[in-house]
Amino acid sequence: MKFFVDTAEIDQIKELNDLGMVDGVTTNPSLIAKSGRDILEVTKEICDMVSGPVSAEVVALEADDMLAEGRKLAKIADNIAVKVPLTWAGLKTCKTLSDEGTMVNVTLCFSANQALLAAKAGATFISPFIGRLDDLNLDGLELIEDIRTIYDNYGFETNILAASIRSANHMSDCAKIGADVATAPPNVIKAMANHVLTDKGLAAFMADAKKAGISIL
Ligand code: G3P
Repeated sequence: MKFFVDTAEIDQIKELNDLGMVDGVTTNPSLIAKSGRDILEVTKEICDMVSGPVSAEVVALEADDMLAEGRKLAKIADNIAVKVPLTWAGLKTCKTLSDEGTMVNVTLCFSANQALLAAKAGATFISPFIGRLDDLNLDGLELIEDIRTIYDNYGFETNILAASIRSANHMSDCAKIGADVATAPPNVIKAMANHVLTDKGLAAFMADAKKAGISIL
């Protein structure tokens, strides 16, 4: 499973990218707003740093305007994936941009039917939002499973990009199901390294090393 990092914070992307943990980046208008940066400038900086796909989201609602925005975003770099919402206008934009050879990430997906439409429209990525479904006592992971089944049944090449990931468990659950990509905030990716038994075991090893006077350097 590929790891995308869900942030527009350059320093945080760099830290994970230097460790080989970043196969791509996703942003959205909320994350750009949080960064306080200009969308075109920060997106260009991210594209220069990361070789994988970098999602940049349109802010228009009508298809013609979305298309114009998408074409402008696509010019930033070759690794841009234009992010469009899962609306009828977004699907139209997805089809046109995909036909033009631009990667498209269709976002705000909350149902298997929506994912089916995005695949038919030629999306490179579909972004089902796990956490926001879980927030409503619905089952975000079940949606990932359903989309996996449907795409595999018909050989759709659209990549399942699990989004709105809130915990380290979501990451391994998505990997077990077979999501192609999971995008998560940097703190969630870092939390994947944590285990109480690792901390406990390390404390015991350190205590024994001290007692025995073990010195290596
Ligand atoms: O990029 C979209 C997404 O991952 C949003 O996550 O936590 O705002 O639901 P969240």
